[in-house]
Amino acid sequence: LDIQPRAAVVFSQQTGCIVAMETFTGPTNGAEDNPEFARGLGRLVNAYGGPDHTTVIRLSGTQFLLPGFIDTHTHASQFANMGTGYDMPLLQWLDRYTFPEEAKFADSDYAGRVYDAAVAQFVQCGTTTAVYFGTIHTNSCCRLVDIVRRRGQRAWVGKVNMDRNAPEYYIETTERSVQETERFIDYVSEVSRDAAVTSPPLLTAVITPRFVGSCSSALMRALSKLAQRHQLPVQSHLCENQAEVAWTLAMHPECTTYAGIYQEHGLLATQTILAHCVHPSPGELALLANHQVGIAHCPNSNFMLQSGVANVRQMLRHNLAVGLGTDVSGGSSPSLLDAMRQALVASRTLAGLQATKPSPAESQDDCRSPAAAPPLGLAEVVYLATMGGAQALGWARHLGNFAVGKAFDALICSTVPNASLVEDCMKPSTWQTRLEQFVYLADDRHIDRVYVQGNCIHQRS
Ligand code: GUN
Ligand code: FE
Repeated sequence: LDIQPRAAVVFSQQTGCIVAMETFTGPTNGAEDNPEFARGLGRLVNAYGGPDHTTVIRLSGTQFLLPGFIDTHTHASQFANMGTGYDMPLLQWLDRYTFPEEAKFADSDYAGRVYDAAVAQFVQCGTTTAVYFGTIHTNSCCRLVDIVRRRGQRAWVGKVNMDRNAPEYYIETTERSVQETERFIDYVSEVSRDAAVTSPPLLTAVITPRFVGSCSSALMRALSKLAQRHQLPVQSHLCENQAEVAWTLAMHPECTTYAGIYQEHGLLATQTILAHCVHPSPGELALLANHQVGIAHCPNSNFMLQSGVANVRQMLRHNLAVGLGTDVSGGSSPSLLDAMRQALVASRTLAGLQATKPSPAESQDDCRSPAAAPPLGLAEVVYLATMGGAQALGWARHLGNFAVGKAFDALICSTVPNASLVEDCMKPSTWQTRLEQFVYLADDRHIDRVYVQGNCIHQRS
């Protein structure tokens, strides 16, 4: 991970995309002390529009730029429940807390209030792109679309589909589920029609079968057709909890794996994001990799709902695209900084458990033997929160870092207060240390500005 405080990024106000990125040598503490930086900046200003139509945003000595965070899996509709109800595992938790809360979104005014607060907080935490689950209610999902547009966040928004194994107060018929999904897709294309065309789009409708357990085969097939016809991405859940996996496989004796059920119903594609994958069966990761599916790793949720510890190292060794997800309200935090920390803890937990096992003799495929499986490091979790997310979305060419041509989705961050104290004794790695302390200690108070497609959508007050 190369931290480059002596860098300049030039982006176009017109397209919101990066047109140049340059790094300089010399002192790191600001242009005043660094003639090479000052000259370089002058050159860039002249080359890209001249001083008249160029705005220079100078960062202070304690500020730095990060690519915007990409939350690859979260439920905006569960925002009110965030931080409560962690006394039971997934299937019981859905029945006891989650379905009753989501059912309230039949009232689109209630939905508007929750979604407004949720999107504001996700943005404030530095999430420039969010992949949202709504509820089964189309009108409320349209409210979420309006709110995301108004705030300027980039998002995938999904109207949830569920036609089986749900309480009678929160279920749809197969036919209505499909019709309402089409109505939602139409709404998103309609509102996108008069929006500026950006690459990638600010707003995307995502086909959202909740999980196999709540969608009949007929519904999953119809949703696959919709995704193909409208060229839309798909999101769902996969192998989150052992009881869920057993229950799901019992429903589909024709398939040998959970992912195989999605494959059988035409739901695995490059722009499919599946959350969790804590308990993959043999062969399942290879199948997902073959279909270039993205995985949303949601460690906070996996801890809170007692789901287990997902093995990200193993996923990466299978060349899977892995991003991070907050999975609110299974997860108790809306922040990708929290997801990074929890991903580090999850990975170290696995490494520690494996190191205490008497026999490290594992198959080559099992990446949990200690020598073969170093836990994730700081650079890797920052990558997962940014570039990994972009890959999981199938948007690696458009998002995730400051490469020329990508959208300027970025965060102006402030170092945490104690970071300046270690500076003197750790000179050579000052910025490494500052980033490390930022990841472990920062929160939304250290995210000063949030940019999406070149627009500042949040400024800390
Ligand atoms: N599986 C099906 N629905 C859900 C949900 O709302 N949250 C989580 N974490 N897993 C699910
Ligand atoms: Fe989820």
